[in-house]
Amino acid sequence: MVSFYRKLVAEHSRISAFQQGIDAAIRPGDTVCEIGTGLGTYAFMASRAGAAKVYTIEKGSVIELAKKLYLANKKDMGEIEFVKAYSTEAHLKEKVDVLIFEDYDCQGLTPGEELILKDARRRFLKPGGTFVPWGMELFWAPLQGEKIWQKEISCLDKNKEQVLGLDFSLTRDLVPHCRVKTPLEADFVLSPPVLLDSIDFAEKQELEFSRELTMEITKPGTLHGFGSWAEFLFPGGHRFSLSYEEPLTVYSRAFFPLPETFVKGLETARRQNTWLLQALFFIDPAFFTPQSIFLPFVRLW
Ligand SMILES: C[S@@+](CC[C@H](N)C(=O)[O-])C[C@H]1O[C@@H](n2cnc3c(N)ncnc32)[C@H](O)[C@@H]1O
Repeated sequence: MVSFYRKLVAEHSRISAFQQGIDAAIRPGDTVCEIGTGLGTYAFMASRAGAAKVYTIEKGSVIELAKKLYLANKKDMGEIEFVKAYSTEAHLKEKVDVLIFEDYDCQGLTPGEELILKDARRRFLKPGGTFVPWGMELFWAPLQGEKIWQKEISCLDKNKEQVLGLDFSLTRDLVPHCRVKTPLEADFVLSPPVLLDSIDFAEKQELEFSRELTMEITKPGTLHGFGSWAEFLFPGGHRFSLSYEEPLTVYSRAFFPLPETFVKGLETARRQNTWLLQALFFIDPAFFTPQSIFLPFVRLW
């Protein structure tokens, strides 16, 4: 358990985005609430940035370690109150100026995080208060990702989709409808990423859209599937990106593999200099779990 939190603290891109965002958001004397303290890192940053009081909420037993770390590092800090609870069941003595939360999915929000943010906005944040991060953007891009595709699709090779005499080939075409969370690197992104949705946490928390996308694939390569990732937006203009073009983080990334037929279909398109790719894509809130973002239709021409 502790090694997970140590890895979080060691990730420079997220730590520096939160540090800069917290420094930009907090004015001396502000009150702050953090949800998901882990080792206490962001609560400590907030306190050192001049917060008069920080409430930090954590559901896990790691909060005991955070308290010890606070005592060991207390010298430059003000008051921090540790609250062991799930945030929706926690009660604070006052509403706060700044609310810090980080426990997202590689694509940003799932219904669970949506509820946490809604509840926190309603019960913990003063009207006009600031979220850190204050919002997110969700991106989508076609990828060449040989290793990921091999792992996800070719694990049961088409000619041998049989194990112990049982035929599993029916499962193959279902794979593109399932999101994979992968720590593997893609070879490269085949076209500029498309922005699917952006969310301001102080105003809106649902990802809700249905649209048809047309992407122009300009780089030569092989399309193995689609990548999707969140980028978090911080006060002061800083970003923390989970993009395939940034170093991998503990969040991993989302990959939607294409079945082999689509990869073969590219051979015709490859003769042209540019591939155009159309994906009818929607997130149905009723289905939006980490496993079920639908990609019902992809056409290449
Ligand atoms: C990704 S970790 C971040 C930890 C910390 N911010 C850090 O950088 O070390 C998320 C933490 O949030 C906690 N958490 C998530 N949702 C929570 C909630 N609604 N209430 C309390 N704790 C929560 C988890 O137990 C976990 O420790």
